[in-house]
Amino acid sequence: MRRGDTNTHRILLAPEVIEQLPAVKAVLEDAALKRLFRYCAGHARLPICHIENVHNGSRDSLTERDPQKNLHVDTFQPTMKFWLYLEDVTDENGPFVFVPGSNRPHRERLKWEYQMSLRAREHADRYTARGSFRVSQEEAERLGVSGPQPFRVKANTLLIANTFGVHARGNAEPGSSRLALWA
Ligand SMILES: [Fe+2]
Repeated sequence: MRRGDTNTHRILLAPEVIEQLPAVKAVLEDAALKRLFRYCAGHARLPICHIENVHNGSRDSLTERDPQKNLHVDTFQPTMKFWLYLEDVTDENGPFVFVPGSNRPHRERLKWEYQMSLRAREHADRYTARGSFRVSQEEAERLGVSGPQPFRVKANTLLIANTFGVHARGNAEPGSSRLALWA
């Protein structure tokens, strides 16, 4: 997938693919992890898993910025995503960024959600127009208890996020990449 200056390479972990990858199979069939995913998602169905490699700045600098790197919410409902990072995540390859507290349906968030719903359809940003509202820095501070926090983490860290909350793919150096099991 090409979005802005970033190429995201994903391999769908369909059952026949998982059969060929014993290490991946061991992770995805781990009973404790499956319980955790079901608990966090509030749903018995397990998430759709991929191997994901994000290639930052792999297109020329004249291309638009990667839209995932702008603060946004994925949708209007609680949604679980996870990344099991297969390498260290640093400022170079782009840490996940989250606005603490923005995942809670507090008065300010619901008011913002409602106001956005009235004008998003005609919004200049096409991602906002399609329902994944982009969020300004000023709005982010209003919707959370603090500003955006980056998660610089070691390889083999499991990060689970409610992407109803305000988040982004952090800025990264052109030419860097980030490999993870993603669902
Ligand atoms: Fe997102």
